[in-house]
Amino acid sequence: KKKHLYTVVVLGASGDLAKKKTFPALFGLFKNQYLDQNTHIVGYARTKMDRPKFEEHVTKHIKLKTQDDHDALTRFLRQCSYLDGQYDTDDGFQALEKSLVDIEKSSRATARLFYMALPPSVFIPVATNLKKHNYKKDALIRLIVEKPFGMDLESSRKLAKDLGALFTEEEIYRIDHYLGKEMVKNLMILRFANVIFGSVWNRHCIDNVQITFKEKIGTEGRGGYFDEFGILRDVMQNHMLQILTLMTMEPPISLGAEDVRDEKVKVLRFIPPIAKEDVLLGQYTKSEDGKEPGYLDDKTVPKGSKTPTYAAATLYIHNERWSGVPFILKCGKALDQQKTEIRIQFKDVSGNLLSKLSRNEIVIRVQPQEAVYVKIMNKEPGLGMKTVISDLDLSYSSRFDNSVIPEAYESLILDSLNGDHSNFVRDDELDAAWKIFTPILKTIDNGEIVPVPYAFGSRGPKGVTEFMAKHGYMRGEQDYVWPQHSEA
Ligand code: BG6
Repeated sequence: KKKHLYTVVVLGASGDLAKKKTFPALFGLFKNQYLDQNTHIVGYARTKMDRPKFEEHVTKHIKLKTQDDHDALTRFLRQCSYLDGQYDTDDGFQALEKSLVDIEKSSRATARLFYMALPPSVFIPVATNLKKHNYKKDALIRLIVEKPFGMDLESSRKLAKDLGALFTEEEIYRIDHYLGKEMVKNLMILRFANVIFGSVWNRHCIDNVQITFKEKIGTEGRGGYFDEFGILRDVMQNHMLQILTLMTMEPPISLGAEDVRDEKVKVLRFIPPIAKEDVLLGQYTKSEDGKEPGYLDDKTVPKGSKTPTYAAATLYIHNERWSGVPFILKCGKALDQQKTEIRIQFKDVSGNLLSKLSRNEIVIRVQPQEAVYVKIMNKEPGLGMKTVISDLDLSYSSRFDNSVIPEAYESLILDSLNGDHSNFVRDDELDAAWKIFTPILKTIDNGEIVPVPYAFGSRGPKGVTEFMAKHGYMRGEQDYVWPQHSEA
């Protein structure tokens, strides 16, 4: 395969996402030589910024440890430039083209990567202008798009159609950054490279599955965006559903992008739309000590908003492997801790040989403190025959002490440079995902499910424990705390 030299264009370069994720990820790749040292990065956005301001924006979230890091940053910044311009007029994109042509004259780059870190309202105007002014026929073109990919099935289809008229599916990379996370990528290995997991991965052994996403932070300044979308569109329909999909799909024929995504689409199509009675919503209020603001105190949030900042929903997969197993998805902002995990709870042991048993669980801790641990029953050491819960614990920090877990965005940008679509969302996959969520989102948008208030920093709305119990989750007979557990 011919190796291309890219010019990277970051659209929306003055925004939050570019600052927090895109530039740090590009720097990470550059520093570790995954990005050719000759690559130019052009930022484009509406905001006027002089050079010092731009550099501050690019470097704000870049962490430097060694002198080498500092040197790499100096070299990286030499490769970066910024242009301001409008999103919906020709002149800005003409200026961008001129700049790209100049750069390519000296760098001899043969490919362009357009990274759209943009609000959804300008996706299509920008894509249209890129196609019109910056689409070089003899160059390799790649376009990374960020969610939200629409609001529901209809708007997502419209977006797909409009974007599809400009760029081919081959050229488009829809990012869901959870697909770049180490533990999410590990799911296929755990399932398909271990007989002991592979053989119990079904409704005969598993009673229920919980996927949990918790954040300590509220919407802080992103309230304007968030309020329009809510927690289900912000994380459940995409990040959590991706985890569910990889956890439940059948083994693909190969690790090739289309084979993997064929299986993902297939399992999604077995999931019926979420039922109203299988949903619990919450919205956070002030913290108990009054120090942290409630959701409605955020100035960017419209008064009296009913947008959920917490949601629990149970999904079912009507196929031979999973029929009858509840998949409980829970996600929320402004909670007691930050963590994402998958908790697979097994059925009760049959027979009455032993008493006081708790169910086996496999817990895949996605972040932080990456780990896989299995809760098992063990004999309490000593003279008796008492049982005690223990665990087999693969904690990354102790097992892989020298390895660095790459940032999700680094991994995904690298994939896109290499033309690998496996960890990006395909158009029909998106369609299948929206089909599961659109009816319940309409019900919520119509105000038919009222969010239950919960205090900032608490464990979530009242009723969560009952909700989980109703859907089959059983608390253990004995107390158990994962030894690595800490309030990160
Ligand atoms: C984003 C959501 O997609 O994911 C945010 O829009 C959320 O609301 C974030 O905070 C979580 O990502 P991570 O990588 O910090 O877990």
